[in-house]
Amino acid sequence: MTTINSIQLRRYTTEDLDAVIEVFQRAIREVASRDYNPSQIAAWSAVDRAAWEPHRLTRPTWVAVDGARPAGFSDLEADGHLDMMFVHPDYQGIGVASLLLRTVEAAAIDLGLKRIFTEASHTARPFFERRGFVVDGEQVVGKRGERMTNFRMHKSL
Ligand SMILES: CC(C)(COP(=O)(O)OP(=O)(O)OC[C@H]1O[C@@H](n2cnc3c(N)ncnc32)[C@H](O)[C@@H]1OP(=O)(O)O)[C@@H](O)C(=O)NCCC(=O)NCCS
Repeated sequence: MTTINSIQLRRYTTEDLDAVIEVFQRAIREVASRDYNPSQIAAWSAVDRAAWEPHRLTRPTWVAVDGARPAGFSDLEADGHLDMMFVHPDYQGIGVASLLLRTVEAAAIDLGLKRIFTEASHTARPFFERRGFVVDGEQVVGKRGERMTNFRMHKSL
């Protein structure tokens, strides 16, 4: 059985692009799919690889790996916005997101930030609440013509 002890975190490099896209798409299609309908899942998980490539380099991103296997990733924008938190379906529930979040929070503190914030899916809301985030409001967002709800949340550091 895989445990958190086999997971390492490291900074994202350009060679990780396809790995993080795979984690993103599988986490949405196999995990978040329990909370959103198939059209929403298809719209949310669609990826423009050419756009992701430069975008990933505009903010620090951390990748969780199990040896050579990608297990999850997260990021932090300069204003404290945590945009991405995705864990591979094979690594759910063992603490990968918690490990990523600890690193994101430490980086935010290093930057002198007093809070971090995110827009959490229905799927991720319980995780963020468990780790000290509070809900500021529910919102409806458009993605490729689909409408879906998520939750604006923040955590004071
Ligand atoms: C949400 C997600 C990132 C959580 O990742 P994870 O690695 O499984 O989370 P962890 O193992 O670190 O869980 C940490 C805690 O949150 C709790 N938790 C996580 N998901 C939960 C859920 N759906 N319901 C209730 N509690 C949950 C765990 O029980 C654990 O609690 P603990 O304090 O007892 O340890 C992951 O399920 C995921 O990738 N979901 C699909 C993609 C998605 O929606 N991403 C967010 C986009 S905003």
